[in-house]
Amino acid sequence: MILKFGYFDNKRKEYVITRPDTPTPWINYLSNSEYCAMISNTGGGFSFHIDPKDRRILRYRYNNLPYDRPGRYIYIRHGDSGKIWSPSWQPVLIKLNSYECRHGLGYTIIKSENSGISVELTYFVPLSDNLEIWKAHIRNTSSSTQEIQVYSYAEFCLWRAEADQNDLQYIQNVAFTEFDDNVIYYSLYDRHPGYVFFSTNGDIDSYDCDREEFIGPYRDESNPIRVENGKCSNSIAIGGNPIAATCAEITLNPQEEKTIIFVLGVIPHKTDANTLIEKYTNENNVESEFKRLKEFWNDYLDKFQVNTPDEDFNTIVNIWNPYQCRITFDWSRYVSFYETGIGRGMGFRDSSQDTLGVNYALPQRVRQRLLDLAKNQFEDGHVYHIYFPLTGKGAFPDYINPARPYFSDDHLWMIIAVYDYILETGDLKILNEEISFVDSDGVQPLYSHLKQAIDFTMNHIGDHGLPLIGTADWNDTLNLPGPNNASESLWVILLLRFALLGIIELSEELGYNKDADMFIKLADKIKEHVNATAWDGKWYIRAYTDSGHIIGSSKSDKGKIFLNPQSWAIISRIAPNNKAITALDSVKELLDTQYGVMLLTPPYDGYQHDLGGISTFPPSLKENNAIFCHTNPWLIIAECMVGRGDEAFNYYKKISPTSKNEIADIHRTEPYVFSQMITGKYHSKFGAAKNSWLTGTAAWVMRSVHQGILGIQPSLHGLHIDPCIPKEWDGFTVIRHFREAIYEISVENPNHVSKGIKEIRLNGKLLKGNLVPVLTEGTSNVVTVILG
Ligand code: GLC
Repeated sequence: MILKFGYFDNKRKEYVITRPDTPTPWINYLSNSEYCAMISNTGGGFSFHIDPKDRRILRYRYNNLPYDRPGRYIYIRHGDSGKIWSPSWQPVLIKLNSYECRHGLGYTIIKSENSGISVELTYFVPLSDNLEIWKAHIRNTSSSTQEIQVYSYAEFCLWRAEADQNDLQYIQNVAFTEFDDNVIYYSLYDRHPGYVFFSTNGDIDSYDCDREEFIGPYRDESNPIRVENGKCSNSIAIGGNPIAATCAEITLNPQEEKTIIFVLGVIPHKTDANTLIEKYTNENNVESEFKRLKEFWNDYLDKFQVNTPDEDFNTIVNIWNPYQCRITFDWSRYVSFYETGIGRGMGFRDSSQDTLGVNYALPQRVRQRLLDLAKNQFEDGHVYHIYFPLTGKGAFPDYINPARPYFSDDHLWMIIAVYDYILETGDLKILNEEISFVDSDGVQPLYSHLKQAIDFTMNHIGDHGLPLIGTADWNDTLNLPGPNNASESLWVILLLRFALLGIIELSEELGYNKDADMFIKLADKIKEHVNATAWDGKWYIRAYTDSGHIIGSSKSDKGKIFLNPQSWAIISRIAPNNKAITALDSVKELLDTQYGVMLLTPPYDGYQHDLGGISTFPPSLKENNAIFCHTNPWLIIAECMVGRGDEAFNYYKKISPTSKNEIADIHRTEPYVFSQMITGKYHSKFGAAKNSWLTGTAAWVMRSVHQGILGIQPSLHGLHIDPCIPKEWDGFTVIRHFREAIYEISVENPNHVSKGIKEIRLNGKLLKGNLVPVLTEGTSNVVTVILG
């Protein structure tokens, strides 16, 4: 049994993979938010420009055998013996003398050695140009002169990723390549997408642009005929499968080294290539761009840095969680090694939640995102479920229920995201931005859009006084279909109440007193109603089916208890303390496992008409009783709200990537990021994670840590400080940038409590209460907190 495949190198802010045969491809995103290159620890992956659906540059064969192909490959062929290998292990799969892959922030370095040649490959996307760099540093480590051929290989996608897979008779007749002055160009015959270019600072002694010519019949990337032969055939692809394969012959004396830089990028016009190639095939320029990239990420991370007694916690909070938040903000749930970048687009609810993980670091981009999202609202208040980044146009997925064509939660997330952005930035003006609706020409201020969202929910209430579930709520698979279109979601009313708490504060701040009164009344009514009708004895119920049966009750056979109503009854401040504690204890007793907390239990066991999607999954997979990681930070927040710091931290540790590093062969996906789900306990692969990277877990874990455990909570007029930590901690420090000032916060815990503030001082002066005000731009301030 192999448990570990790597370790965290915090000094370099890298995760180091020490063997190539990881249980799944362990990947990284190299991206400047427009050009995106995904790369695995063995060089697999593909690239796209802005939209993975319609501007796909490199091809990837999802769920394929052989595994994780193609990629950005280098082949080394030894002239004397004809031996062939790849520094990234794939695709040749020859055992290497040494191997190491370092995934850093925005770059990946793969380094290996074989047969007296060592190669260090650095892959990255520069900050401000739409291209990727592969830098190969090659050294002769032997004592004799070596003559080698260095090949590069990339397989182009025929732009529209969907047609590339399903319209071959057409798409394979529209592309062409050219080889011109050491550059391979690729475009479609009508040139509408512009051009892709591939070039190098090395000499191209021979090249191939036609995949079949390079690979040869009945072969694959592991044994291309042209690599075997030691020379490419100088083929051009007109139609067919275009690639960029180049071959350079080099001679290296003992210990001699050479750097070959490859550049692959996208340009509107062919004539744009030369300047970029000139710039990026120059080693000094590549060095300085790489440095700039590192500085960029350091600046990004500097905005929130923590130091606690728990090193693993610091690693994730300071480096990997903010990194993942940025990636999910950029690509929502659209494109990963599990999301093909074809169908889903950017999720409305997903993107709204993703803003929570970056608004402290990227306020301008979040502002724009919020306005873009709001444009996807219909006049009655509901919203499109997804939108496409190239056009901004919204859509519903194929499985939308035509009888109730909306998701009951989507529009409400907009309120939560806008509110959170305003707390972070103080930018109340965003509420005045005039924004159109999907189905009318008129515009209205964002504030009205938020009100419309509330109206929509209130105009779609069912027989039990709860929101109709529509196609589903946050739980995409809890469809609860039926002829009456009458199923209701308890959870959505909790979300509504949480959204109301936000808009109440905003309307009060703006002096919209009538609105504030109306929202307060509604919020009170909801609280009363939920506690009067939805408490099952030891927890809150989840929903009503179309025929009025309760989901999530002690009387249910399966699905007796769901996690989300318990955490959200607390987050929405509906649960009184006794109910909150009882519900949390029930969660602990019934849903907690060694790998994280399950979404519900017991699992459904077979398809049920009245449930729909959720019952299409076998027990313990996906929404049917898996540990759906996204929901765990909600529980952490709830535990913090009731003051149980040990429980909160314990739940955090269970899903934290660092804890998965020690059980990597069970967990399977990358131990430096969160995955969407971990298989639940009624499955033989209990503990196996799936669907890494793009998950709302990232933003919510950040929030649960920043605002729950560390208790640093942005508010309209400053930072509230209210930590809820493990009792054994002596304290912690945080450096936090907030509204252009720096807060150096140090928290001491002399009495070893979890929560409760004895004293706060700002720059030495005692404060009343626990609100540290907004401070002067550009200042650095010392906040000392004593718990007790
Ligand atoms: C996936 C979806 C998200 C949904 C969740 C639960 O993560 O991206 O939108 O809320 O599943 O169904």
